[in-house]
Amino acid sequence: MSQALKGQRILLCVGGGIAAYKSLELVRRLRDAGAQVQVAMTAGAQQFVTALSFQALSGQPTRTSLWDSAAEAAMGHIELARWASRVLIAPATADLLAHLAHGLADDLVTTLALATTAPISVCPAMNHIMWKHPATQANLATLRARGVQVIGPEDGPLAEGESGPGRLSQPDAIVAALAGAVPADAPVQGPLAGLHVVVSAGPTYEDLDPVRYLGNRSSGKMGFAVAQAAARRGAAVTLVAGPVTLETPPGVTRVDVRSAAQMRAAVFGAFPADIYIGAAAVADYTPRMPAPNKIKKSSESLALDLVRTPDILAEVAASEQPLKLVVGFAAETENVAEYARGKLIAKRLDLIVANRVGIPDGGFESDRNAMTAFWKEGQREFPCAPKTELAEALVELIGERLRA
Ligand code: C5P
Repeated sequence: MSQALKGQRILLCVGGGIAAYKSLELVRRLRDAGAQVQVAMTAGAQQFVTALSFQALSGQPTRTSLWDSAAEAAMGHIELARWASRVLIAPATADLLAHLAHGLADDLVTTLALATTAPISVCPAMNHIMWKHPATQANLATLRARGVQVIGPEDGPLAEGESGPGRLSQPDAIVAALAGAVPADAPVQGPLAGLHVVVSAGPTYEDLDPVRYLGNRSSGKMGFAVAQAAARRGAAVTLVAGPVTLETPPGVTRVDVRSAAQMRAAVFGAFPADIYIGAAAVADYTPRMPAPNKIKKSSESLALDLVRTPDILAEVAASEQPLKLVVGFAAETENVAEYARGKLIAKRLDLIVANRVGIPDGGFESDRNAMTAFWKEGQREFPCAPKTELAEALVELIGERLRA
């Protein structure tokens, strides 16, 4: 287990969502990792779980109100805000994120968040429509720009019976992300220090009906490895992940999405950034109208009416965003160099990484691959190696191209 949280004083602020029950487990995991934990709850949180449960698990009194005179006499809210070496807000509801983004301080949790100088991490959890709402995404962008770490949410079934991005990340994933986050007071090192890197990874799923989708074969391994390698070199990394079953790399902020349209919104929502790496296998077509009910197999053939998805990479490269480098991937079955160079020009990229699909020891599900990177004036071969090693070498090359 990582030692990063050993001796940390974590102020866990619990917001009012059904996911609050998972925060009980989170207290246990944080203590297992060697941290001291004190818990503050919003009024909404107390509708879902009790202060007593948190008290039993944290071994410390749970704080529930700004106006508790006994608690204020012992450890006032300002002292509690100063005590924390880290503030973790889980679950962070849409309303809580809005309060934080705007600096409102009308209860204990929001006051603590404003009164602390400790690094803040938020773990959003909400209905998927609330998550995708531009207001929520704008609030997240504000918080990110202020250095707040955003952990999750995950994609999957939600409490209200729907499915989509909005589930609170699993306690283990939250602890790992927290442990991997670079402490605010630690010197930031590495060739990508101080840069914000946005990476897209995995496939997108385009729903045909409530049970079927169109998607690409993609494990997301390469994109996740690239995100990890960039974080290891000091970058602040936002990883926009399609539906994959991979752990979030340490120190990386992950946003889970399902469709190409959601991926586009999440990528642009994560900007401003210095580098964009489009490693996702985005579906090129999506149903014009997903069927509201399961399509019946009543005829011998079925014609699908599909429309093009947005080309996220090309849009990013053509946008007004002040990006220093835009990197694309190209999976090809033939004429790899020719097609890759064509895409480099057509999509106005700074770098494109091409790999041949169908080689015996590489490809989608494999942990290994071989690839060639092309830029306007040159190219570099990366012989077959584990994807983690390729990612390290690729991020080195990205650093070189930045300095070129
Ligand atoms: O043109 P092609 O789809 O082969 O280009 C692959 C590159 O473009 C990848 O980097 C992929 O992430 C990106 N892409 C995208 N949006 C699409 C299709 C591809 O960002 N709709």
